[in-house]
Amino acid sequence: MTSTMLTPPPPYSLRSMTVDDIDVVRAIDRLSFPTPVKAGLYVHELTQNKMAHYQVLTAPEKIIGYTGFWMLADEAHVITIATHPKWRGRGLGELLLLNLLYLAGEAGATLATLEVRRSNTVAQALYQKYAFDVVGERPRYYQDTGDDALIMTVMLKDDYYARTLAQAKKALFMRLRGAD
Ligand SMILES: CC(C)(COP(=O)(O)OP(=O)(O)OC[C@H]1O[C@@H](n2cnc3c(N)ncnc32)[C@H](O)[C@@H]1OP(=O)(O)O)[C@@H](O)C(=O)NCCC(=O)NCCS
Repeated sequence: MTSTMLTPPPPYSLRSMTVDDIDVVRAIDRLSFPTPVKAGLYVHELTQNKMAHYQVLTAPEKIIGYTGFWMLADEAHVITIATHPKWRGRGLGELLLLNLLYLAGEAGATLATLEVRRSNTVAQALYQKYAFDVVGERPRYYQDTGDDALIMTVMLKDDYYARTLAQAKKALFMRLRGAD
């Protein structure tokens, strides 16, 4: 999968996550989620779970964001996505999602799906920008806060969506070229 990773403008770079990245990823996790993922779970995801694909975003070599998804038959399930708080609002969460959608499409996904907290309107706006629709909900899904989960999906396998991604990539890379 590494061969299909997007190549964003410098200083940004995307690559697969390794076990050596777990400490830094967990530091961002703690700043991003009410209940951070335990180190052991990341080790399992990276070394045992054949369905799991995790990527990190670096600038220039420091990890500033990450994402992960599972390939379940023809469905890509987004497991996590986060950017370091200091790097938010610059298009980098979008870069991680765009890269994930490209990777998922190349791996044969026809559908991408995810759960998001009802209260997390920032993440929902990001997903809506990529045409994810709310297709259901799981009441009180998140045990830590009691928040509901919204289930959001987007169909990946059509020419219109491929063009949408290509246009989004062009616009995003232009934006990133203007960033410091
Ligand atoms: C969600 C998250 C990854 C977005 O990352 P980011 O780097 O700040 O996002 P970007 O700068 O790439 O913004 C992409 C889009 O997200 C939405 N967005 C980002 N910040 C927003 C804000 N403060 N208010 C509303 N929408 C916002 C917009 O649609 C934006 O597109 P635009 O720039 O064209 O307006 C980041 O906020 C984060 O790590 N949050 C904590 C972890 C989390 O909630 N993950 C999602 C779990 S489901």
